Amino acid sequence: MEKKLRPKVHFTPQKGWMNDPNAPVFFKGEYHLFYQHDPDALVWDTMHWGHAKSKDLLHWEHHPIALFPDEQGVIYSGSAWVDEKNESGFGKNDEPVLLLFYTSHHMQTKREMQCLAYTTDGEHFTKYEKNPIIPGKEHTPARDPQVLKNPILGGYSLILTRETVVEFYHSTDFVSWEKTGEFALPEYALRGMIECPCIFTTKASDGVEKTVLMLSMDVSESEFSKFPKEAVAHKRTMQYFVGTFDGKEFKVDEQQKEVLLVDYGPDFYAGTIFANVSDTILIAWLGDFSEGAHATPTEKEGFRGIQCLPRKLTVRKTENGYRLHHAFWKVPQDEVDYRKTQNEELLIDGCVTEILREDGFLPLTSYTPIEREG
Ligand code: FRU
Repeated sequence: MEKKLRPKVHFTPQKGWMNDPNAPVFFKGEYHLFYQHDPDALVWDTMHWGHAKSKDLLHWEHHPIALFPDEQGVIYSGSAWVDEKNESGFGKNDEPVLLLFYTSHHMQTKREMQCLAYTTDGEHFTKYEKNPIIPGKEHTPARDPQVLKNPILGGYSLILTRETVVEFYHSTDFVSWEKTGEFALPEYALRGMIECPCIFTTKASDGVEKTVLMLSMDVSESEFSKFPKEAVAHKRTMQYFVGTFDGKEFKVDEQQKEVLLVDYGPDFYAGTIFANVSDTILIAWLGDFSEGAHATPTEKEGFRGIQCLPRKLTVRKTENGYRLHHAFWKVPQDEVDYRKTQNEELLIDGCVTEILREDGFLPLTSYTPIEREG
């Protein structure tokens, strides 16, 4: 029987390279997933937004590329917002319109600007003609916008990362944005270049409303000693902070004095959550920019890159403080080989192993493609 490296339910691109998940969103009855993609390369190169759709987050249908590079640059990561009543005016009448926020990165000048595109049918995408919505300077990283409702000031917030800080902006029309605040990494945190900020507010298990800020980091090697003992010290990781959002900026709780990681394994990066769903559903790239991700044997099947199975995140109050708790969104028992060991739950999808510890607090994800039959 033929041996295959393509997993059954983990999302992989049809062909070419994939890294970060972008703008996961529920729109008009379907889940949409966009992703950092080069259709013509098997290593990171010229970024487009690939596009796929699903009804259950397990079975995906590939769709044509949503956003192509243009004279402003290649298309870096970003997020989605469903403008239900067409307040932005980019849609028709009062029908919902899907807004996509992305970073345009100019390969020669390294200028990064925040831009907007929209679609009413989830199939045809138009870039806003007056892009950028937030200008940028040459050789200055400023990237990966996430847009969300601002229940305190009204209107919307946009967050992005600028090297080692997170910036907060506010808008009432999605196109003119004013800076309202910043979050700098506290002393005890892992330091390095931050990317792909992702923030959400939810009721913790004790009923208290908490805001979580997750950051993907290129960790400086001098910081490796700060990794928690349960974690694999690794250059790329996701760190999180629990605190409050006052409408203008995020403040981490005073009680948090330690490094908290979203996943303690080596292959979990650029994670972000679905927009327009009531649960907090996380999806992340099972890889990083190390040689591993650029050297997977899946090359021989014409693709490289894989996303984790969507996970439901909750915030639990523990004796050590508030902690993120992970659970697989759905365990597709009939389609994947799902096994339980004494301390860990193993999910094996034909040729991928994703591990969530039984208590759901210390996921330890690593990706090693394994050939499967058939
Ligand atoms: C994270 C990242 C993002 C950027 C994208 C480029 O993996 O570096 O910051 O938008 O990938 O592909």
